[in-house]
Order: sequence, then C-alpha cells, then structure tokens
Amino acid sequence: MEERFEQSGTRERNLGMELIRVTEAAALSAGRWMGKGNKEMVDQAAVDAMRHAVDGVDMDGVVVIGEGEKDEAPMLYIGEHVGNGHKPEVDVAVDPVDGTRLLALGLPGALAVVATAERGTMYSAPPGVFYMEKIAVGPAMRNAIDINAPVAVNLDRIARAREARIDDLTVAILDRPRHSEIIRQVREVGARIRLIGDGDVAAAIQAAMEDYRGIDVLLGIGGAPEAVLAAAAIKCIGGEIQCKIWPRNDQEREKLKADGIDLSQVYRTDDLVKGNDVAFAATGITTGELLDGVQYFGWGARTSSVMMRSRSGTVRYIQARHKWRKSSQAQ
Ligand code: FBP
Repeated sequence: MEERFEQSGTRERNLGMELIRVTEAAALSAGRWMGKGNKEMVDQAAVDAMRHAVDGVDMDGVVVIGEGEKDEAPMLYIGEHVGNGHKPEVDVAVDPVDGTRLLALGLPGALAVVATAERGTMYSAPPGVFYMEKIAVGPAMRNAIDINAPVAVNLDRIARAREARIDDLTVAILDRPRHSEIIRQVREVGARIRLIGDGDVAAAIQAAMEDYRGIDVLLGIGGAPEAVLAAAAIKCIGGEIQCKIWPRNDQEREKLKADGIDLSQVYRTDDLVKGNDVAFAATGITTGELLDGVQYFGWGARTSSVMMRSRSGTVRYIQARHKWRKSSQAQ
C-alpha cells in the first residue's frame, strides 16, 4: 500500500508544538508536589505555570474547558482569553493536572493536558453537567461501538473488529463504586479489566492508539471536561468516543431535565470537537504507561510529552531536557 506523508512545500503552522511548552511548564511546576499529599497545591502550581506559559502562545484563545466559572477560578476560567491575541482564533481546553490525586499521592499516570480547536467548535457542557458515560476505542473499532448497546454486545463487536476473542480484550474502567454493574457485565463475558485509579483521558488515548495494545476500550463514567479532552486527542489519532450526560442522582437528573437537557443524546467525537484543525498536547507528571513523569536534576529536569494534530494525524513523542539557568535567562 502506498504510504503518503505530509510533505508539502508550504508547511502549515503546528500549534501543538507550542502547546507542548505549556504542558511542560505545568508538569515541571506541579511535579515538585509529587507525593506531598496536597491536592490544592498540586493544582495551584500547575495552573499558575500553565497560565503564565499559555500567554506566550501565538493564538487568540478562549478557554472553553477550564478551572470553572470566573467567580470560582481566578485563572484559566471558562471564557478567559489566553494566548498573545494573534491569530488563529481558537477554543482552548485545559486540564493542568489530570490525576490530581495520583500526583498528590505519588501514584503513576498524572498528566498535564491542553487542546485547541477552531473557535466555537468545542463542546462546552451546560452548567450542572459534571459527568458523562463514555466508551472509547481505536480506528479499527470506530464503527463497532454503540453507547446504547449492552456491554456484552459492544465487547463482542469490538473483538470481531479487532479479529480477537473477547477474552483477549482489555477494558479500562475507573475504579469507582458506580461501576460495579459494568464490571460485573465485563467479567461475565470474560474480557480482562484494567481498573484505573484516576485519569481517564490517558486511558481513552491508550484505547485509541493503534500502536499500543494495553487497553482496547475505555468504559464507564468520568468527568465531562475530560470527555472533550479525550475527544480532541481521538480526533487526532482516529478512533471514536461516544458519551452521554450522566446525572449523579435523581435531583440532578430532574434539574437537568428541567433545564431542557436531553439525557438520551449521544455525543460522538465530532459533537464534542467539531473542528478539523485540532491540536493536543500532554506532558507526563508522574510516570505512567503513556508517558514518563518529570525527572529533576541539580541542573534541570527531563520531561516526556506527546503532541498530536488532526490535520495530519501525526503523533509526536517529545523528550525535553530543561536547563534551569538557561530557561530562566530565556524568559
Ligand atoms: P482530576 O485530577 O482533574 O480531578 O480528574 C481525575 C479524574 O480521574 C478524571 O480523569 C476523571 O474523568 C474524573 O476524575 C472522574 O471523576 P471522579 O474522581 O469524581 O470519579
């Protein structure tokens, strides 16, 4: 089969290259708080560093997924303008630390994450929506899934699409009491389970990666902002995520219904991120399967990041060596 690579004379700008510096800054700063048991400081360090770094990016960005509303978040709040104000006009989704608890406890898999897409193309969950039910898979399985189908049906169709047996599959699920029924159903059909403590953005990315076979599908309920970030990555890698808004209790369900929210609506990758010029970057803070964590030395530090963009589908892994003295002079 003919292989074609992006090799045109006029190179498009790759915003992801600049976003890496933003996630690196957040990781370098938050990584200092690893294992210190302080979730607030973990978050604060990452937000401060990310906010500072993001203004160096050549873009006119508006935060669509951020740290909350203006009155509850002093920085990176929804609606805040970020970047240096030059074109392109983009929506910005940030998660300064996905896996705050992991980082505070020194557990594997905490990441700093940023994504951008053309202005007005990222889904912004209405107030009161905190969680979504999710199913995410890679390109070969993108037509096999249906979030409304029973777990057994999805796993059977995924196994067929992957030319595997159901008991070859690994299903990633957040380790939460709310997932006991899904876990029971997965066990009943014999698939393997990877229970994850936190961090379903990384798990969704791993499920979508064709050159990684540790997770075949992400199932279960996680944060709504994380669904949009995962969709941004999947838009770049290929694959599919389907989500539905998940109210935590009857009161929340009634409130959302009263607000006119259709709880049966399925949000697919293209509903969560409609744009076709998507950039995604993540840097490891604590070492996980996707990325190494930050390593500190007297002279500086090393970071490990991934960046992707939807136009080309290229996924780049970037190891960086940061020298303290030179980087402070460069600022
Ligand atoms: P934060 O670190 O941003 O708090 O998110 C961690 C996380 O595990 C997400 O990856 C996931 O979507 C969400 O929390 C699940 O929420 P909960 O911990 O409330 O079940």
